[in-house]
Amino acid sequence: MSLTVNEIRSKFLNYMLEKGHAVVPSASLVPENDPTTLFTGSGMQPMLPYLLGQPHPLGKRIADSQKSFRSQDIEEVGDNRHTTFFEMLGNWSFGDYFKEEEITWMWTFLIDELKLDPSNFYVTCFAGNEALGVPRDTFSADLWQKLFAEYGVDANISDTPEEGIGEGERIFYYSEKKNWWSRSGVPQNMPEGEPGGPDSEMFYDFDPKNEKKVHENSAWKNEPCHVNCDCGRFLEIGNNVFMQYKKTANGFEELPQMNVDHGSGLERYAAALRNDSDMFNIDVFDEPKKTIARLSGKNYGANDIEIYAYRVVLDHIRSATFLIGDGVMPGNKDQMYFVRRLIRRAVRFARNLGVQENFTKEVASSFIETYKGEYKNLEEKKESILTEIDREESKFRKTLENGIKEFEKVIAKDKGDEAWNKLNPNESNINPNDVLRWEIPADVAFNLLQSFGFPIELTEEIAKEKGFSVDMSGFEELKKQHSESSRTASAGKFKGGLGGDGEMEVKFHTATHLLHEALRQVLGDHVLQKGSNITSERLRFDFSHGEKMTDEQKANVEKIINDVIAADLPVHREEVSYEEARARGAIGVFDAKYDATVSIYTIGAQTGKRGEANLFSMEFCGGPHVEHTGQLGHFKIAKEEAVSAGVRRIKAVLE
Ligand code: SER
Repeated sequence: MSLTVNEIRSKFLNYMLEKGHAVVPSASLVPENDPTTLFTGSGMQPMLPYLLGQPHPLGKRIADSQKSFRSQDIEEVGDNRHTTFFEMLGNWSFGDYFKEEEITWMWTFLIDELKLDPSNFYVTCFAGNEALGVPRDTFSADLWQKLFAEYGVDANISDTPEEGIGEGERIFYYSEKKNWWSRSGVPQNMPEGEPGGPDSEMFYDFDPKNEKKVHENSAWKNEPCHVNCDCGRFLEIGNNVFMQYKKTANGFEELPQMNVDHGSGLERYAAALRNDSDMFNIDVFDEPKKTIARLSGKNYGANDIEIYAYRVVLDHIRSATFLIGDGVMPGNKDQMYFVRRLIRRAVRFARNLGVQENFTKEVASSFIETYKGEYKNLEEKKESILTEIDREESKFRKTLENGIKEFEKVIAKDKGDEAWNKLNPNESNINPNDVLRWEIPADVAFNLLQSFGFPIELTEEIAKEKGFSVDMSGFEELKKQHSESSRTASAGKFKGGLGGDGEMEVKFHTATHLLHEALRQVLGDHVLQKGSNITSERLRFDFSHGEKMTDEQKANVEKIINDVIAADLPVHREEVSYEEARARGAIGVFDAKYDATVSIYTIGAQTGKRGEANLFSMEFCGGPHVEHTGQLGHFKIAKEEAVSAGVRRIKAVLE
């Protein structure tokens, strides 16, 4: 029996604890006060302020296993390795240890602790780039070579990875396209102020004898195989980023500290330990698979279509379970839309397994059982997770039913219509169940997508059941036209993203603190932050409150805030003990992560309790904020609306 996911996670965290790291719990899948991204998609995201130099309350060595969700991978799911949810094992050095310790510890952990075979490993390092002023990382390459040698593996270093793997080659230099890490990718795409650096990646070989077990169907099967070629033979299982640079107007400058940002895929370790490149065979899927088998009467692995469907269902329900557990309900906007999409896709793919009735909550329940030891919130919120997922499924099934009715209406309609009959001039003799002879026009398929949420695969599937084909090329053309027009529409919307200079975001962040406090003064102490999202154009703040706000209440909130802005109160950051912060009345999102010291921001006086004298606001927060409130301009509520039962949302602007 190979180690379970839970065992590997504990082993890693214990190992890092022994190396002097403080182990912190996973942050939420929904980043707080980070306007640049909807979801936490890697372990480093919650660490950003500390990589940039702010002291971490628990010191310079931190480790965790971070829940991550990558919405951009939704459509990739179905092969043996893509998942939208995963856990990233991470450790960070904030200006403490550097390459030597990181690489040596990683090797020791993989080989001595996990007992993986050293001869199944390949690594990559940064080739250097003179124009960027960043040298070749010979230090890392030489160190890897020495470590391989200590374990009896001759590891040659190659400078030409794309030409394939030469005799004995295991260490490869790649350009910044592969061996540079920042949140926005290659150095050329990084906005000013963004940290990044060269990295060294570790790959596991699932086909060491090169029997082409994994990659025979790959698009790369006739190309020289190299570790980054994506043929399925090699899987990157971890990445050590030496985050030592910051992008500036004139290129790169060194950060005040040399950081290490290491992230490894927990599930990928589990797959490597099983020597099985199918990520869906690791233990966390065992119970959910049994549930699907019970409901569908089909076992995982029977045929390709079913394997694909199983993987989509497993991945999507797991992600939806974790996201709802972190407070994201299915809906139409922002993060909520992804939860809706995940559930709908799962329902749709379950049709390929013959599942036609509500099933998602049973699979979700199996995931909760599997993960509840590590993620207590799943157990605590079990009822609401299951209710939400089931409700969304029922809603979609209703849509599905209506869509199918619409579909039937459309296909029963005027059979004399030319488009319908172009493949069937003698329609009077047809038996629609015989052959595919009618074609659903592109605009009908597109309308089913737009109005009924029918993805094209579903339209094709139902069409086929009824003896029709679909005008796919016409459909693709319509879709392309549509996405071009919506891209143009959204180009403006996201202009304040990662590319912004951050100044407006910082102002909105301070305004969010003012709003939180003002709402409590006007509506009462039951008001608590439920979510926050900032762009360069507006703030959005979700809070607990049962009723629509009156115009008078809104005007009062605006007045309080604009008075504080006019008073030009100072904003200060302090580090105090958790007890002191609580005793002084600090509010805000605080999940008891750090038991030592906490970072708080005060607006107004720096001593005393929140609410006293001039101390307007005091919140747990990592910043950043403006220095004094006079910088904010005029605060105005643009919209107040309901998000869900008991939660309201305010969008506000600074004029
Ligand atoms: N930030 C790096 C990654 O996400 C390593 O943690 O791959």
